[in-house]
Amino acid sequence: MTLTTSEPRAPEARAPEPRASEPRASEAHAPQDAPAAQPLSAPADGSAPPAPVKLWLCPNDDLAPALAAVLAAHWLDETERETAGRFLFERDRRQYLVAHTLVRRALALEAGVAEAELVIWRSRRGRPFLQPMPGGLPRGGAHLDFNLSHAGGYNLLGIVRRHRIGVDVERLDRDAQAIETITSTFAPEEQEWVARAAPGRERDRRVLRLWTLKEAYSKALGLGLGLPFDEFAFTLADDHGVTGFRPPAQDRFGRWRFVELEPVPDVLAAVAVPDDGRQPPELQLHHGFPWGRAAPRNIELPEPVGGIRG
Ligand SMILES: CC(C)(COP(=O)(O)OP(=O)(O)OC[C@H]1O[C@@H](n2cnc3c(N)ncnc32)[C@H](O)[C@@H]1OP(=O)(O)O)[C@@H](O)C(=O)NCCC(=O)NCCS
Repeated sequence: MTLTTSEPRAPEARAPEPRASEPRASEAHAPQDAPAAQPLSAPADGSAPPAPVKLWLCPNDDLAPALAAVLAAHWLDETERETAGRFLFERDRRQYLVAHTLVRRALALEAGVAEAELVIWRSRRGRPFLQPMPGGLPRGGAHLDFNLSHAGGYNLLGIVRRHRIGVDVERLDRDAQAIETITSTFAPEEQEWVARAAPGRERDRRVLRLWTLKEAYSKALGLGLGLPFDEFAFTLADDHGVTGFRPPAQDRFGRWRFVELEPVPDVLAAVAVPDDGRQPPELQLHHGFPWGRAAPRNIELPEPVGGIRG
């Protein structure tokens, strides 16, 4: 996600409203803009191994513009095509087309449903959800959650088969004003940790590590920038990894697993998934557009953190 100085604190989502036929009832009752929560306890027989968290990192360059346009024409729904048509700059349209063909392709592989037949709706706050299918998904299970982020030519998509996921991707090359604006949104202890780093690259990295984690977390909840970023706080190891998390008062999950990645140099990514108390699943990181089933990089998910509310 990008925060520019002209986009100071809580930009309004320009997301299309869900169509009349799409489910909205659950979000009206859910404090965190959520559809009906999936059970977070282990299955009664305790046998099913936890499904991996799947991540797709796709640079725009992985899909030629003409090809992206053809796929979009076949796969995107009317709302998505209308959104694509509204971009002023070709660069932004391209990013949108790659991001949304990526979403439909990866969800189709995971669910076993053709790209054009997936029904995606958006919550009041703009968070997309895959509409559940009567009788479950052809490739097994009943629930898929996903989250998308795009920034500076990179698209990051996360998919989980249980509960929620939030993801964020950022480039490190941000101007000083943007870094200052971002920092001003942090909790006091985070601002102090940032200030302890030498100005320049080291400090910028701290700011953007915190920012991607905060974004990923608030996007998992479906709140985005609607959640004040100073109401929750991360404690980070100097080089890499989350060692502590103070959730905001309204967090109903409490404990989370957070992953920090630098999938390509100078591009930071973060993933947030609630802890469900089961054996830690792994994360599979795929690079490029999901044409086939190339072997992903497997990453063990870190221990959960959190539990003490802010
Ligand atoms: C979520 C949000 C932080 C994303 O900011 P961004 O700069 O576009 O950042 P990213 O690239 O990381 O993520 C964009 C993607 O996040 C997803 N997204 C949008 N709103 C989301 C939300 N509330 N929660 C989780 N994910 C969301 C979308 O897939 C979006 O991409 P798309 O519009 O192309 O489908 C920002 O749009 C936001 O705060 N939205 C909520 C606004 C709100 O509360 N509106 C209420 C109106 S009543």
